[in-house]
Amino acid sequence: MTATEHAHLVGNVTNERDQPMLSGLFTPLATESDDVALEVTGDLPAGLSGMYIRNGPNPLFEPRGGYHMFDGDAMLHRVVFGDGQPVYRSRWIRTSALEAEIAAGRSLYGGLGGLHLPSRKEVGTAGAIKNPANTNIIEHAGRFLALYEAAPATEVTAELETVGLQTFGGQLTGPFTAHPKVDPRTGELHAFSYLSEPPFLQYHQIDSSGELVRTVDIELTEAVVMHDFVVTENYVVFVDSPLLMDLESALNGGSMFRWEPAHGTRIGVLAHGEDEVRWFQTEDAYVNHFWNGWVEDGVLTFSGSVLTGEAYSTSENSAMTTEGAQADPGTPTRFSVNFSSGAVLQEQLDDLGGDFPRINEQYLGVKNRYRYMVAFSGVPDVIGHFDTVVSYDDLSGERATWFAGPGMVVGEAVFVADPEGDNENDGWLIAVVSPRGLAADSLISDSLRSDLVVMDARDVAAGPIARVHLPERLPFGFHGGYFALRAADS
Ligand SMILES: [Fe+2]
Repeated sequence: MTATEHAHLVGNVTNERDQPMLSGLFTPLATESDDVALEVTGDLPAGLSGMYIRNGPNPLFEPRGGYHMFDGDAMLHRVVFGDGQPVYRSRWIRTSALEAEIAAGRSLYGGLGGLHLPSRKEVGTAGAIKNPANTNIIEHAGRFLALYEAAPATEVTAELETVGLQTFGGQLTGPFTAHPKVDPRTGELHAFSYLSEPPFLQYHQIDSSGELVRTVDIELTEAVVMHDFVVTENYVVFVDSPLLMDLESALNGGSMFRWEPAHGTRIGVLAHGEDEVRWFQTEDAYVNHFWNGWVEDGVLTFSGSVLTGEAYSTSENSAMTTEGAQADPGTPTRFSVNFSSGAVLQEQLDDLGGDFPRINEQYLGVKNRYRYMVAFSGVPDVIGHFDTVVSYDDLSGERATWFAGPGMVVGEAVFVADPEGDNENDGWLIAVVSPRGLAADSLISDSLRSDLVVMDARDVAAGPIARVHLPERLPFGFHGGYFALRAADS
């Protein structure tokens, strides 16, 4: 189906209950966009000739109750770079749950802030828990996979049309992490599932052709929340933390997540090709996202953004309080695990709070020098509303920052390698910058529109070298990626 044949959806969210996660920058778009040619300020690098796709929540229908940003239907935003002007398109992902709601003309599912399990009569085979596919998008073995950690992956095309669930031949019909990792050396995809029932954790190995070749059951003591993991050249690494999954609480209107220090925190290390996990006890920490990890001289080193569990709740409005956001901007932390002594060291890497860590993915699993994240320069007030792009040089110890401006929110900064580059940091960072909604405070003065900014990764402090002006304000979103164009995309 071409863009012109696409039967567009139109949203009807009015936020009738005045919920914070449906207001301000969380306000969803009501329409999809077709191939809009974009104006650019500055100079786009010639080597930037692929496409950026970002995923994020954008509910189509007025929620039936408490709404959390993790609940919203996925909308994908794509900017294609090539000769001439960049071109923007957006599409909802038509999961079977959303199709059931489209057929009904209204929301059928409750969200994390008020779980409601619809009947099979209402949603057919779409399942009792909604799969919004709204968290991340990756490309592996020629397929684009939109991801949501409580459900299987959803395949979409490069044109952003929905193909359907990717269950690896029916072998993975349950949860699939939103943060699988492609090993740049082998082309394999490493993934995991965290589950509400024993064994509570599974590791999955998918070969470079996209076949699931191995699943390892990993027995945990109880159901935990695990958003991300670490993949090194020879190991996969899991952090089993005290952030517990509490389905019963969620069904009774409470939070799906519960911080339980009695659970403790341990780091599990599984060698590629083996079945036995070796565990290392450490101080309590929940790591939301990881930068990278590697093993050198018998020491596993990895780093990530640590959240304090107390602030991490999905009950209605809880995660959106000023107190919650202030308590929990994310603390950059390095972990070192000595394989022979069993000692684990945790070191805070920066006093700047932030999240959405990224690296040059060609260095996944091996020692790397440069890290990137987005952060709060001032006092955080709304969760995830970062205002600053940060780069770190771990060899020199230098940090560079760029503040996006008063009233501006900057999303995840994705590293794009310069095809002509030689060094790890030869490339660009691309990120969506959006006004919160107060035009008078905004750098994008008289319109509520977002920019896709392009920065030289070697000189973040200099600010964007180009701004691609999007035709609308993109709502707060999660993760994106940069992908090579296929012949049919340009
Ligand atoms: Fe994530």
